[in-house]
Amino acid sequence: MENLKQFLFALSAAGAVGFVSIIFVLRWVLYFKEGLDWNGGLAEFNWHPVLVVTGFIFLQGTAIIVYRLPWTWQCSKLMMKFIHAGLNLTAFIFAVIAMVAVFDFHNAAKIPNMYSLHSWLGLMAVILYGLQLVLGVGLYLIPVTPVAWRAAFMPIHVYSGLFLFTSIIAVALMGITEKLIFGLANPKYKDSPPEAIFVNVLGLLLVVFGALILWIATRASWKRPSDQIAHSLHTNRGSEDNSKGGPAMSELEDGANCETDGDVRKRNSK
Ligand code: HEM
Ligand code: HEM
Repeated sequence: MENLKQFLFALSAAGAVGFVSIIFVLRWVLYFKEGLDWNGGLAEFNWHPVLVVTGFIFLQGTAIIVYRLPWTWQCSKLMMKFIHAGLNLTAFIFAVIAMVAVFDFHNAAKIPNMYSLHSWLGLMAVILYGLQLVLGVGLYLIPVTPVAWRAAFMPIHVYSGLFLFTSIIAVALMGITEKLIFGLANPKYKDSPPEAIFVNVLGLLLVVFGALILWIATRASWKRPSDQIAHSLHTNRGSEDNSKGGPAMSELEDGANCETDGDVRKRNSK
């Protein structure tokens, strides 16, 4: 891999920042707020930010960069697809439980549903994420889908995946701000109590995590080798959209086994 050191640095930074974000959200709800419970009260609401940060943001970020990990390149593309799809499915389940927690809390406390911009954008993001998941399985896991279709949809899949990930972080920042404004009464948010500073830092950490994942996922030189070769073949031929080449060619390498390093070298040199 080109610039392996840079890759490892970006990956460790993303892992560390993601991990610290999870610690921050847990400390927020357990130390500053009412803890976690499932009783229709504020402790049930607290599952909302916890599940969003751990599942919808951290697990999704991991799912996005999983193809880029060089030590997985000797594994078949099919196995990596299962890991990518499985992590995205787990992130989706976390997001759905996070939605149930906040709706349940609102209904028990007789707070109106879906009045804020945060809730509109949030629900839209969850629905579109579900659609992305269904289309992803339909196109890339079901073996009958023609390779040409897989290739044609890949730029859309990658664009909408990155767009959703970015939007979800933006929605989380809106939610954090709302909660600080509603939840801090004496002293108020504008008086910068320790909770406000702490949770502002959580927001910053989420932005840095997002920036690192997007950086890793958009470096062409850090793609799986077969995809890079297909990419350069297309560039050499000239006329077609480059992004079609990678996935189309990589779809042909679906095999349920993990290969040895030698196999990978032979395949790549071909
Ligand atoms: C409410 C989605 C992240 C705080 C809601 C509601 C939805 C939603 C759909 C409306 C529930 C209802 O009307 O009954 C999302 C999504 C998130 C996310 C998809 C992922 C990015 C967060 C985070 C916080 C948060 C990290 C931080 C605490 C709130 C608050 C409410 C709420 C305070 C109640 C006020 C309102 O309806 O706007 N969220 N949320 N959200 N969320 Fe989030
Ligand atoms: C690639 C997002 C679900 C199959 C990608 C990429 C993103 C992404 C951002 C680009 C990664 C890179 O360039 O390294 C998502 C999101 C999903 C989702 C947010 C769920 C909501 C799925 C599912 C499948 C799938 C269910 C089914 C197997 C693929 C494939 C690639 C890919 C085959 C191409 C990897 C490559 O060759 O570079 N996805 N994806 N995705 N995804 Fe998904």
